[in-house]
Amino acid sequence: TETSLPFRVADLSLAEAGRHQIRLAENEMPGLMALRAEFGASKPLTGARIAGSLHMTVQTAVLIETLVALGAQVRWASCNIFSTQDEAAAAIAVGPGGTPQAPAGVPVFAWKGETLDEYWWCTQQIFDWSSEAAAAGADWTGPNLILDDGGDATLLVHKGREFELAGAVPDDAEGDSHEYRVILAALRASLATSTDRWTRIADGILGVTEETTTGVHRLYELAKHGELLFPAINVNDSVTKSKFDNKYGIRHSLPDGLNRATDVLMGGKVAFVAGYGDVGKGAAEALRGQGARVIVSEIDPINALQAAMDGFQVATLESVIDQVDIVITGTGNVNVVTLDHILAMKHLAIVANVGHFDNEIDMASLEALPGAEKVEIKPQVHEWRLPNGRSVLVLSEGRLMNLGNATGHPSFVMSNSFANQVLAQLELFVSTENYPIGVYVLPKHLDEKVARLHLAALGVQLTTLTDEQAAYIGVPVDGPYKVDHYRY
Ligand code: NAI
Repeated sequence: TETSLPFRVADLSLAEAGRHQIRLAENEMPGLMALRAEFGASKPLTGARIAGSLHMTVQTAVLIETLVALGAQVRWASCNIFSTQDEAAAAIAVGPGGTPQAPAGVPVFAWKGETLDEYWWCTQQIFDWSSEAAAAGADWTGPNLILDDGGDATLLVHKGREFELAGAVPDDAEGDSHEYRVILAALRASLATSTDRWTRIADGILGVTEETTTGVHRLYELAKHGELLFPAINVNDSVTKSKFDNKYGIRHSLPDGLNRATDVLMGGKVAFVAGYGDVGKGAAEALRGQGARVIVSEIDPINALQAAMDGFQVATLESVIDQVDIVITGTGNVNVVTLDHILAMKHLAIVANVGHFDNEIDMASLEALPGAEKVEIKPQVHEWRLPNGRSVLVLSEGRLMNLGNATGHPSFVMSNSFANQVLAQLELFVSTENYPIGVYVLPKHLDEKVARLHLAALGVQLTTLTDEQAAYIGVPVDGPYKVDHYRY
């Protein structure tokens, strides 16, 4: 195509409602607003063309407009079929200076309730920069940076290039998921029209900044096998990301999702949390805070011991399955809740996932179970009537329920995550030569900077080291304060 589509969202008339929410969110996102104040005049991201794949929420809207304020051009898709807030997407498409009749915002391709085909179509749109290229009279056709959450955008580039070099897209194989078949079909269509599209796109990319645990895991796998095509910054493992967003974010948005989906009283219920990493810790604390009796499972003895010391019963799911009212998965692993587990649950037990992908609960086997019947209670809330006469309630079809049934993490915590994202994009774009192909975390002084930007809003009074104290513990007065292996 000579010109790419300007955007695709659910309903542009929602833009005003979205704009009001963005305005309120800006007040809760001091990190992003401080970066706008610091870099808004010098615009260090001028020339950056960012392909973003991250939940199209109100908080992400503030991130997008921060990247634009720093000089970047942006195209955006959501990284989950249910996570878009349609009013936020509309406001981004319309832009602060546009109207629904004359939209003048950012090309965004996202709506709540995409099919998987639509999802991968949207993801492809963030790589089609033909309109921007035509406007600039440039010979590039793609982005030069990726901002990813879960790694799907990065995956598309890697797979596309791999198949172009091989000259063909492999046939669907037994055991391929429906989603992978969709990707293969999309790349087959791509290869039919161009034999080097993804290769050229990959060549043009300076790097990717990755938001979440699961996406980071994919990047380290690529790097380990020598397949990573460009440098990557692991935003997740900034302390001010995973120790805040994953934990305190879930502590807020998990009960929010349960309430909006079911309104079931959590107090007194038996809740089960699979995984006691950062997400699991936030989930378990939230459920306990509501008076639920929480049982945790872990495969790692260190995390299991932590859970026990925090006062939680630690047990396998099968040993307590007949007692649990609410099951939450947050492991980043596969088949943590099996069909056998589901068949052994109490009538109308709630099953939901907050890990990145939908394979933590074996939804494929549930969908294939003869005699099982799916009844929609409301969008993203389904009663599965089982052949044994009982039902379970599945939220968001096994996908991230805090984003599918609620609106994800609140602004203040996302300001920390997204300030890391902006700093990581700046690093890759401005200090490209410091990042040969590999996976990096941001230097500690930037991690500390992100935290510092959020103190005043909470009335935090920080103690300043005296010169004597700084010398005594061997750190500079202005930081960094901890060695890299310190665990917080
Ligand atoms: P983590 O690595 O800190 O924790 C995962 C824990 O699960 C680990 O302690 C691991 O030992 C445990 N685990 C693995 N397999 C298990 C099994 N079969 N049974 C029980 N425990 C098991 O990772 P983190 O940061 O807590 O992230 C977990 C998932 O949540 C990832 O997929 C991540 O991408 C996603 N995530 C979701 C968010 C949301 O908004 N819903 C926010 C942040 C992360």
